[in-house]
Amino acid sequence: MTTATSNTQPQAPSGLRGVVVGDTKISYVDGERGELVYRGIDIHDLANNATFEEVAYLLWFGALPSAANLAAFSADLGKRRALPDRLIKILREIPDTATPMDVLRTTVSAMALFDRNAKDISAEANLEKAKLLTAVFPTILASFYRLSEGDEPLPPKPELSTAANFLYMFTGKEADPQAARLLDAALVLHADHGMNASTFASMVTAATLADMYGAITSAVATLKGPLHGGANEGVIANLMEIGTPDAIEGWVAAKLAKHEKIMGFGHAVYKTNDPRALDLKRIAKEAGERAGSTKWVDMTERMEKAVWDQRKLYANVDLYSASVYYTLGIPPTYFTPVFAMSRITGWCAHLIEQYANNKLIRPGEHYVGPRGVKYIPLAQRSADIPV
Ligand SMILES: CC(C)(COP(=O)(O)OP(=O)(O)OC[C@H]1O[C@@H](n2cnc3c(N)ncnc32)[C@H](O)[C@@H]1OP(=O)(O)O)[C@@H](O)C(=O)NCCC(=O)NCCS
Repeated sequence: MTTATSNTQPQAPSGLRGVVVGDTKISYVDGERGELVYRGIDIHDLANNATFEEVAYLLWFGALPSAANLAAFSADLGKRRALPDRLIKILREIPDTATPMDVLRTTVSAMALFDRNAKDISAEANLEKAKLLTAVFPTILASFYRLSEGDEPLPPKPELSTAANFLYMFTGKEADPQAARLLDAALVLHADHGMNASTFASMVTAATLADMYGAITSAVATLKGPLHGGANEGVIANLMEIGTPDAIEGWVAAKLAKHEKIMGFGHAVYKTNDPRALDLKRIAKEAGERAGSTKWVDMTERMEKAVWDQRKLYANVDLYSASVYYTLGIPPTYFTPVFAMSRITGWCAHLIEQYANNKLIRPGEHYVGPRGVKYIPLAQRSADIPV
């Protein structure tokens, strides 16, 4: 005999929308007003004026660095960029066809094996790991890209910015300052975003007092999904599938008629414009003009209008970042990894905050199954017995 589950159990909102998991001083998303701040500073201000390194410093230390401290911090990150031979060896063994996000996840996980202090979760050790991970993400990605293309990985250039060094290691040529600045601004815009899915995943892992490599492995795995960081790759795939601008409206109508999600639109928190999309649209236009073709950003803008006209959905961060990256010569499978190259700073900032004031994260759930089901011994079951 079974009894129905009581309906008096507490129920969480679907997808934990609106649930607050703790206090933070790192970033804030105001979904009603369309505002994002890092440590209180408006994202537009940072996108227009700050460098990625400055933002990493701001997120981790809660201060805008002096010129001397920023130079020392940038140099410190720069000198940590080289990957040990043993990790390069692992990259050489990975099939060329592997998804770069999987490569990044596996390499972060493998890094723990070679770090004697992997388990140390003291504040000092966590900061060391934050610097190391931020410094090596571009190296992991560029090295795997070159290996998969049949080229040898290039040694990093410590004197370049994160953006310029990535473009250099990836393409084999030093980028012009405009290209480096455009990528740098995109990195600034992706660095942190409140309690997003990948940050939450990393915090759940860290809250068990597992180490930072494990927490960042969780974060990379979570960012990969198409409803989160993976959407930027979906945007360019859609634009390529559509092919010509005149086909956009019909394509959008067909997608919506089938109740299919259109990548780069909608947001769990913003009920208005995603402020990052506004900056990325400007950056995408500049990237297009620099490259001599605004085809991708023009198509994106037309798609934005079509989706608004037909479904009243706002663009999110992933819509315009796709044409920024593509126009800078980054292949689509590296779009989400480039997002990760920036978000590593936000993940680390939240982890440092979490370890300093830890509480195991252990929510409940609303059980909707039966109770009081009697166990029937195996010998008495001639078939499965549904319960
Ligand atoms: C980000 C996202 C998961 C947030 O979703 P959410 O707040 O949970 O909202 P839901 O997925 O429940 O969607 C609410 C409604 O809007 C629709 N909707 C939301 N985003 C949509 C999209 N991108 N395309 C088409 N319809 C969309 C849903 O189909 C749903 O419609 P319904 O009420 O008729 O069923 C969602 O907007 C989405 O999947 N976007 C596409 C992926 C993407 O760009 N992700 C990157 C986010 S930064």
